[in-house]
Amino acid sequence: MTAVVVDKVTKVFNQGRADEVTALSEVELTVAGGEFVSLIGPSGCGKSTLLRLIADLIEPTTGTVTVAGKNAGQARRDQDYGIAFQQAGLFEWRTVLRNVELPLELRGLSRAGRRARAEEMLALVGLAEFAGHYPAQLSGGMQQRVAIARALAVQPPLLLMDEPFGALDEMTRERLQSELLGICAQTGTSTVFVTHSISEAVFLSDRVVVMSARPGRITAAIDVDLPARDDAARQSDRYFGYVTSVRQELRGVPSQRADAR
Ligand SMILES: Nc1ncnc2c1ncn2[C@@H]1O[C@H](COP(=O)(O)OP(=O)(O)O)[C@@H](O)[C@H]1O
Ligand SMILES: [Mg+2]
Repeated sequence: MTAVVVDKVTKVFNQGRADEVTALSEVELTVAGGEFVSLIGPSGCGKSTLLRLIADLIEPTTGTVTVAGKNAGQARRDQDYGIAFQQAGLFEWRTVLRNVELPLELRGLSRAGRRARAEEMLALVGLAEFAGHYPAQLSGGMQQRVAIARALAVQPPLLLMDEPFGALDEMTRERLQSELLGICAQTGTSTVFVTHSISEAVFLSDRVVVMSARPGRITAAIDVDLPARDDAARQSDRYFGYVTSVRQELRGVPSQRADAR
């Protein structure tokens, strides 16, 4: 099933006021089931706005958003996606383990079931020993890993991630990128991933969607076809070719690649 359909969506903040801003204009985006799509573009081009529209945290001014075949509000109520945003958004009064358990609680999992699953997810992000800590006792990067574990815990059909790895050191970042791809491949999860990093976008994505600012629009979409997503891929000419294509699109130079569109 198609994971996300954004149909002619325009978002105007503070409409009719002096500080009115058109964050997105006539945006069209379709994400297929199991597809990994990155959004990349300059600061303020509307990446977070687009993700928040898909998550039904805000509503479009015009146009429609469909998630898993339903309107975005219904998909939110049905918990059809997991979200991990820039700010970790953890509950300070809950331990790390109980933060990760939260979406499982909301789904009515048994106590033992959710504990086992939460522990598994914490091990995955390398925080098994910190299960009993509180968020304030962790670094920013560690808090972000907890948020990622929480988003993945329910194995949602769709993941919405807004610069989730931004605060992490390069080694952790690369490890989590690989883990994320492994999880998505295993579970058939679709992902919409916001990033500032061209190399991260290319490494992770089936398609890199390039946006421009004022008003935010999609200016290009580049299909990324790499034989594998491993350390060798990160050093391949093919990979660097895609990085160059995305960089050129970001600069407003149309890409020369035959597979860019
Ligand atoms: N709640 C809001 N109220 C008013 N303006 C907003 C709001 N959220 C975002 N904007 C504006 O919309 C534009 C796009 O913002 P955003 O989606 O956060 O960009 P990005 O994530 O690409 O950096 C910016 O000009 C920003 O100032
Ligand atoms: Mg943003």
